[in-house]
Amino acid sequence: MTDLSRRGFFQSAAAAAASGVLGQSIARAANGRTAAAPVVVSSGNGLRATEKAADMIRDGADTLDAVIAGVNIVEEDPDDMSVGYGGLPNEEGVVELDSCVMHGPTSRAGSVASIRNIKTPSRVAKVVMERTDHVMLVGEGALRFARAHGFKETNLLTDKARKVWLRWKERHSDRDDWIGAEDADDTQSNARFERFPCYGTINCCAVNETGELSGVTTTSGLAFKIPGRVGDSPIIGAGLFVDNEVGAAGSTGRGEAVIKICGAHAVIEEMRNGKPPTDACLAALRRIVRTTTEKRLIDKNGRPNFDVKFYAVGKDGSFGAAAIWSKASFAVYSDGRNRLEPCAHLYERP
Ligand code: GLY
Repeated sequence: MTDLSRRGFFQSAAAAAASGVLGQSIARAANGRTAAAPVVVSSGNGLRATEKAADMIRDGADTLDAVIAGVNIVEEDPDDMSVGYGGLPNEEGVVELDSCVMHGPTSRAGSVASIRNIKTPSRVAKVVMERTDHVMLVGEGALRFARAHGFKETNLLTDKARKVWLRWKERHSDRDDWIGAEDADDTQSNARFERFPCYGTINCCAVNETGELSGVTTTSGLAFKIPGRVGDSPIIGAGLFVDNEVGAAGSTGRGEAVIKICGAHAVIEEMRNGKPPTDACLAALRRIVRTTTEKRLIDKNGRPNFDVKFYAVGKDGSFGAAAIWSKASFAVYSDGRNRLEPCAHLYERP
């Protein structure tokens, strides 16, 4: 949380405590701070997810069922081109999805990577957790497992995503035989996807009034990736980590950078050592800056030319998010209010 939002958070928590709004219980943290549960954090595309998850937790749902139901809204939304159905495909025009889940109270986890044809990989990840002796299934094996459990197959490539991919295919090289239409009118979104690699993803983490934590991360991964490329999102400890004694954290952005520092795990370890969530997220981002040495990934000022964002919620209901670059926001439900807040950041976006 930024200082401003942190102040707002505690003011509203105090007001909620005084008025007993919504009949929510107030969890008193060991450090004396108060927070009105449930608290749900998500990436900037997760405002519907935080609302849904918070509603379900208030109605008594398990925190993992709640965050999965939240991200399912975005996985099934054809207009979100970074997650699930409608996500941007790999370089061959095939959508491949990654997701993982962690359930704090039972310390269990499940994951699928490079799975095709299933709109809601987060649900398959939960079934991997519940109905196998494994943590992670990939590719064809993950799809067969989903089929065995009755998941319906769908062509995940919407017309909108296909057209973006086709324009990328036609424009990214003048040394092949793919040629764009003469009257092609490149939309803003095409130009954007070509200039900035799209690593969009949704992460959602929650804590309930008894301090139970869970989290989920789900994505279509890097747009136009090499088939089989797996990012951080399905990797326990990278795109998501939950420790029911401490908190839950997740990431969006350049997965390769997150994997190298075991990002979400790094955030939780910083919190275990006493850092509030926002500071823990910033500390993990500094590790990414330190470990980014490839010239092609560094701008003329020596800073990463990509973004990563971390989101975190503590067992005490504290929460925060941070990005490498400014102007990012995250979704949060706390104290009975659902809203977007600015992420803390390391650098001002030029
Ligand atoms: N963070 C999403 C990805 O890199 O696939």
